[in-house]
This record gives sequence, C-alpha cells and structure tokens, in this order.
Amino acid sequence: MIISPSVLSANFLELGKDVEMLNESQAEWIHFDVMDGMFVPNISFGLPVLQHVNKIAKKVLDVHLMIEDPGRYIDAFKQAGAEILTVHYEACTHLHRTVQQIHQSGMKAGVSLNPHTPISVLEEIIEDVDVVLLMSVNPGFGGQKFIERTYDKVKQLKAMIVERNSKAIIEIDGGVNLETGAKLKECGVDAVVAGSFVFNSENPSETIAKLKAL
Ligand code: DX5
Ligand code: ZN
Repeated sequence: MIISPSVLSANFLELGKDVEMLNESQAEWIHFDVMDGMFVPNISFGLPVLQHVNKIAKKVLDVHLMIEDPGRYIDAFKQAGAEILTVHYEACTHLHRTVQQIHQSGMKAGVSLNPHTPISVLEEIIEDVDVVLLMSVNPGFGGQKFIERTYDKVKQLKAMIVERNSKAIIEIDGGVNLETGAKLKECGVDAVVAGSFVFNSENPSETIAKLKAL
C-alpha cells in the first residue's frame, strides 16, 4: 500500500524537520489536511504553509480539502504544489465540474466521503476520479478511533470500481495503525493516511516502514 503520513500530527514548530524525515522514509505521499472551520469544526493550515512544505518535499503532495466550496481554490492549490487534490462530496454542489477543473489544472482528482455518506453517491463520478478517499473517522481531528463500517464500504467501492472499469484508487483516512492497516490491505485498499500513529510513535520513520511492510 502507498503510505501517506498526515502532517496534521507533525510538530508545527519543527515542520521542516518532519518533512525531511518523510523525505527519507518509505512514504510515497505526504498528506496535507486543510480545514476551514466551516466544513469541519477545526482550522488547520492552508496555502502559505503548503508553499513552504513544497519547497523541500520530495514526495507527492496529497492535499485533502476539508473546506466548503473547494472549487474556489483549485488553481491556488496547484500553484502551491498540490499533486493530488481531494475534495469532499458533501462540500461540492457541482462535483463533476470541480473534478474537471482539478484535471484541467494538471492534478489528480480525489473525492472524499464522510463516514455517513454511502458509496452509491459515487456512481455517476467514479469513472472520472483518480482517488476515492474514504473517511474512517469524522473529519476534523487526528487521533480518533477507526469506524469499523469502513471495511464494508471498501468492499462496496472495490466492486463498483471493477464493475465500471474505473482507474480510481482507494485511500483510507483516519485511525490507521498496524491492526486496521492490515485489515484494510486485505480488503484491497491502495493507500492509507496515518497521522497520530506515525508522529506519536517513538520512531516515525520505522513506523512508516512497518505500515509499508503490511
Ligand atoms: C482527519 C484528517 C486526517 C487525520 C488522520 O480529519 O483528514 O488526515 O490527520 O489522523 P489519524 O491518523 O491520527 O487518525
Ligand atoms: Zn485527511
């Protein structure tokens, strides 16, 4: 599986050091959680921080927008260094247009679903997206408990992707550790986000290697 450590759990006073650690690690992507205090009840960081991370990051910048009406900021995130831009189904009135705009900007397009949102809402968009990011916690905070229903959603999503011959890859976000990660791999997940499990561990780089070895 592709490992995408979430810098939401990094040490913001030493963010550069943490990004350098990720550069040297087995992580392929760096997950960057943008929160607006409206779509989710928390405010994290945004464009200026991403611009700085982009100056030193050697990994793919996997940007997860937890913001209302993300279509307003697509080009700005491209300029700041995003390579994968994921928006929430629940935050987009014109999701198809937003996905098109992400592609026109030259990025891979991701669509994320909250835990209560059924897989079936992706039926008319699954052929157009590169990544489906399933939330396995309610978005807004790191360090929450994995919602077990997610395994079933992964299976449903996998079936839809195969049936529709979509190229979309499945990424899971929230509560990922060695135990949940192993089960997700069994279900056919392609990429996992891990925040607190990586950054709260004694040796984050070794923890990434362990997730990679699942
Ligand atoms: C939650 C964010 C996640 C978060 C995951 O809203 O989207 O990316 O960083 O954190 P952990 O891995 O600690 O659940
Ligand atoms: Zn995220």
